[in-house]
Amino acid sequence: MTEQQFIPQTYSNDIFNGSVAWESPSNIALIKYWGKKQDQIPENPSISFTLNNCKTTTVLTYAKKENAEDFDFKVFLDGEHKPDFEPKIETFFKRIEVYVPFLKLFQFKIETTNTFPHSSGIASSASGMSALALCLMSIEKELQPEMTSEFFNKKASFLARLGSGSACRSIEGDLIVWGENETVQGSSDLFGVKYPYEVHDNFKHYQDTILLVDKGEKQVSSTVGHNLMHGHPFAKQRFMQAHENLSTLKTILKSGDLDAFISLVESEALTLHAMMMTSMPYFILMKPNTLEVINKIWAFRKRTGLHIGFTLDAGANVHILYPKEEKDAILDFIKTDLKGHCQNGQFICDEIGFGAKQLIINN
Ligand code: DP6
Repeated sequence: MTEQQFIPQTYSNDIFNGSVAWESPSNIALIKYWGKKQDQIPENPSISFTLNNCKTTTVLTYAKKENAEDFDFKVFLDGEHKPDFEPKIETFFKRIEVYVPFLKLFQFKIETTNTFPHSSGIASSASGMSALALCLMSIEKELQPEMTSEFFNKKASFLARLGSGSACRSIEGDLIVWGENETVQGSSDLFGVKYPYEVHDNFKHYQDTILLVDKGEKQVSSTVGHNLMHGHPFAKQRFMQAHENLSTLKTILKSGDLDAFISLVESEALTLHAMMMTSMPYFILMKPNTLEVINKIWAFRKRTGLHIGFTLDAGANVHILYPKEEKDAILDFIKTDLKGHCQNGQFICDEIGFGAKQLIINN
C-alpha cells in the first residue's frame, strides 16, 4: 500500500456530534526502532510484544463547527485541562490532516487517562497516540460505514505512526512488526502488521515486569534520540543488524529456543544504549540501579537456570521478560532482590496483550 491509499475520496455519511472511545496499550520492542527518515519512516524494522495492562483510554468528543479554518481542540489528562500537551497534538493534526480531512470541521475534546502513573518514566506516546488515532478512525468509520476492519486497523496504525513511530505497533497484538524487510511478508514502513508466522507456545503468555528505576523526565526526547542516528558512525551497520536479527528471531520464535531469545533481546537493548553512548552528543541513559539490576538478573539466571531476560527502552527503566511458567520464582526474586533498586520500590506487572479495544459510549 502507498500513502495515497489512505487519502479518502468522499464520505458517504454526514455526522454532527458524538463521542467515541478507545483503550490502547503500550508495547515493548524486542528489536528496536532507533533512527528514522522524513515522515516517521523507520531506518530499520522493529518487532514488539503488545502489552496488556499499561494502556491509555481516550474519549474523543466531537461537534461540528461553523468555521473550518483552524483546528479546535482541548486536551484533558485525568480530567484536568493540559494546554502544554496541545502543541504535540497540533503537530500530529497537521501531519495527518491530508489523510483525515474532517479534522477542521469539528471542535474536539480529547480526554485521556493512563493506567500507569504519568511520571513513571513509561512513555505514554505509543498508547496515547494509538488511542487517539483509533478514535479518529471511529469517526471516519461513521462517515464511511462500509470501511473494512482490515483497512480500519491499517489506517489507525498508519495515523498512529505519524504521531509517534512506535505507536503504530499498539493497534493489534500480540507480536507486531513495523518496517519493510525481507523476513516478514507484508511488512511495511507505513504501518505495523501482525507477525504472520508460527510462534512456539513458550512465547504465548510472556510476562513483562517493568522496574521503575528512574521516574524522572526523559533526558533525551525520542525525536532528538532518533536524529542522533543521522551521521552516526555505526548507523549503517546497526540498521543492517536489525534486519539480520529479525531473520534470526523468526527461527527462534518458531523453535521456542528461550536462551537464544534472551541473548538476542538483551543484545538489542544494549545495542540501543551503545548507539546513544557513541553518538555526538553522547548520552548514558542507564542509571547505577539499571546496571545493578542487570547484574543481578544475570547472576540469578546463572544460579537457577530460569529464563529471565531484560530489555530497555531509551531510559533507565528495566523490562524483565520471562515465560509465565516461571512467574512465581521470578516474581519472588524481583520482590526480594530487585525491588530495592526501584524508585519508591515501584514496579508494574504486565504481560503480552492482544491490542486496542473500542469502548461503547452512549451518545
Ligand atoms: C527506544 O516511537 O517514541 O522505544 O517516532 O520520535 O515518537 P518517535 O519515537 P518513539 O521511539 C521509540 C524508540 C524505542 C524503541 C522502540 O520502541 O522500538
